[in-house]
Amino acid sequence: MSVIAVIGAQWGDEGKGKVVDLLARRVDMVVRYQGGNNAGHTLVVDGEKTVLHLVPSGVLHTGRICVISAGVVIDPNGLMRELDALSKGGIETAGRIFVSSRAQLVLPTHKRLDQAREELRGAKKIGTTGRGIGPAYEDVVKRSGIRCYEVLDEDRFIERVRVHVAEVNQFLESHELRVMDAEVLLEEIMPACRRMAHLVIDTGAYLRHSYARGEQILCEGAQGTMLDVIHGTYPFVTSSRVGVGGLLSGTGLNHKAIRRVICVAKAYTTRVGSGPFPTELNCEVGEGLRERGDEFGATTGRPRRCGWLDLVVVRYACQLNGADSLNLTKLDILSGMGKLQVCVGYTLDGLEVEGISVDPEIYARVEPIYEELQGWEDDVSVCASFHELPQAARDYIAFIERFTGVSVEYIGVGPGRDQMIVRS
Ligand code: IMP
Repeated sequence: MSVIAVIGAQWGDEGKGKVVDLLARRVDMVVRYQGGNNAGHTLVVDGEKTVLHLVPSGVLHTGRICVISAGVVIDPNGLMRELDALSKGGIETAGRIFVSSRAQLVLPTHKRLDQAREELRGAKKIGTTGRGIGPAYEDVVKRSGIRCYEVLDEDRFIERVRVHVAEVNQFLESHELRVMDAEVLLEEIMPACRRMAHLVIDTGAYLRHSYARGEQILCEGAQGTMLDVIHGTYPFVTSSRVGVGGLLSGTGLNHKAIRRVICVAKAYTTRVGSGPFPTELNCEVGEGLRERGDEFGATTGRPRRCGWLDLVVVRYACQLNGADSLNLTKLDILSGMGKLQVCVGYTLDGLEVEGISVDPEIYARVEPIYEELQGWEDDVSVCASFHELPQAARDYIAFIERFTGVSVEYIGVGPGRDQMIVRS
């Protein structure tokens, strides 16, 4: 009778998909609550790589119900492409994927606006995924967005899309950009919208009933806390509420339902796109992490910026989300690196500063205060229990626990589904 939440504790790409996949074995349903197909969750099962963008990672478990709830923005073509790819891979999704009637659509107009806005920002660009996520959420708060239930009444939906395209064209024209043709756009989206119509339900009511019936619900966060539109490194963030607040508003479940929050942090730090990143390593150590960790975006293929573990960031995320435990991922990537640095504070102009500055210009100028920890040479990817880990790796984990005040319950030691040490 409970909800478990899995939430990223850094700038996304922490490797949340694997713990979701592991926990999905024990739950009735897996729910996405925010973001859109800007996310990319990579899972490796029997050596087969599957990248999911919108569909919850629980889909790989036969019989699990997968819910894309109200807080998500949905690109119908993207969703159908994903379902087709799953079906091609032998994964049956019929009857177990539901889409919220309240979720808003991401249309080709939003992608176009996303790309146009980035060009207009010039040097101040955010480095978005270009998937139209920001403009779709803008429509949510502008109260002009098109919601999934609207695809159920095709004539009305088509009219709504025509009006929406005309509005977008006003913006494009005012910036002397090529306008969009509503009829071409409709041709592009209608087949997917018609297919999606069969999946649309009131997921809020469905989830509340499931909770009341005592079913186990796993909520899967996308991106990471530092990309949260309110609490992240604004404006270099995504446009959704990534943390536990987004879970409540996104699913329509209430706070009493949450039993456990697991925050996921990589054993080092990565970030895609622009914005401050105090522990970034613009040197061969950072390049080494990128190569060994295969740090290239699952959605855009962009190289990720890499740096040392920033515990100020992880502690902030744990506090914001009320973490009960941590999943430390990719510990194996740190093997053989020699001494390891871990950020435990910042200085600004030589003076120690508290926490994470709200001002991105100031946060971009802070210098990390590092604690140097012993590294380890042994390959930890073969370790199946905590006690098999080298002493230095265990000390690294103990240091994280002391600093954050949160226990590390899951330790990822390789990409495979079972390369995860569970300590409880
Ligand atoms: P948007 O979400 O496409 O608007 O991009 C806004 C910022 O969030 C950019 O810096 C993206 O690189 C970042 N971002 C969005 N989705 C992800 C993700 O799944 N992982 C990591 N970064 C992401």
